[in-house]
Amino acid sequence: MKILKISKNLENIFEHCFEHKLNRSSILIAFGGGVIGDMTGFAASIYQRGIDFIQIPTTLLAQVDASVGGKTGVNNSFGKNLIGSFYQPKAVYIDPKFLDTLPKREFSAGVAEIVKMAVTFDKDFFEELEKRYPQILDMATKRDLSETELRLIKEIEDTRKEIKELELKLTKEIEDTRKEIKELELKLTKEVEQVRLEVEEVRKEIKEVELKLTKEVEQVRLEVEEVRKEIKDVELKLTKEIEQVRFSTIKWIAGLIGGQTVVLITTFFTLLKLFLH
Ligand SMILES: NC(=O)c1ccc[n+]([C@@H]2O[C@H](COP(=O)([O-])OP(=O)(O)OC[C@H]3O[C@@H](n4cnc5c(N)ncnc54)[C@H](O)[C@@H]3O)[C@@H](O)[C@H]2O)c1
Repeated sequence: MKILKISKNLENIFEHCFEHKLNRSSILIAFGGGVIGDMTGFAASIYQRGIDFIQIPTTLLAQVDASVGGKTGVNNSFGKNLIGSFYQPKAVYIDPKFLDTLPKREFSAGVAEIVKMAVTFDKDFFEELEKRYPQILDMATKRDLSETELRLIKEIEDTRKEIKELELKLTKEIEDTRKEIKELELKLTKEVEQVRLEVEEVRKEIKEVELKLTKEVEQVRLEVEEVRKEIKDVELKLTKEIEQVRFSTIKWIAGLIGGQTVVLITTFFTLLKLFLH
């Protein structure tokens, strides 16, 4: 009788099963922590010599341990799990979202179970846990905070996220602007080079024209020189001829009027010539 007293909840489950006329094709659903899972599993294993049950564990410990392995049972005044069976659930549905409302103590109990498993069976997993220790501690600590504190933390986290996004956006914009400046610089450098080449070309052309003109001017100068020389020669020739004519005239006059008069006339013409020059 003592056993039944301790298993009052188990008794309640069976009462519901009979009241609702559950048969061998019915299914029990264990929705809760390890205690619920163990008890529901045990009830399913003995109701009508065993019906199906499904586990939906809502504590971390139940998700990582109690819902796996097929052990079911209930406690009594003589000890834990002394009454029970091995009975596998038809399915186990695990959703980490259930853990959002889990108190710190229950969450830590689940973490302790995970660490125990890692230490016992998986060195790499234990090292991974060591690495993620701050995040895990953070997840546990947050559970002790009030609604307001949690809201504030969320706001801070959201702001951090926004800052990060803004930072990323700005970094991208800076990067894009740098790229544009680089492209513009390249374009301008090309254009400046083009203009430089054109100026060089024009300078070359000016130089050539200058050279050509200098040659032409020199040519004209030489031609003028030549013409001047020719004029000089003609002038000289004419002077000589005039002199010749004058001399012949004087000679002719001298023949007419005598020698002394010739000397006077010659002297007169020479003085006239000097005076005119
Ligand atoms: N069958 C197995 O292989 C196995 C293995 C390990 C442990 N167990 C058993 O599991 C039991 C411990 O399981 P437990 O740690 O889940 O404890 P629990 O089932 O007693 O649940 C702990 C508390 O958390 C509450 N709770 C459950 N889900 C919640 C949620 N999502 N949000 C807020 N509160 C929630 C419960 O109402 C309860 O008050 C023990 O009886 C242990 O013997 C069984």
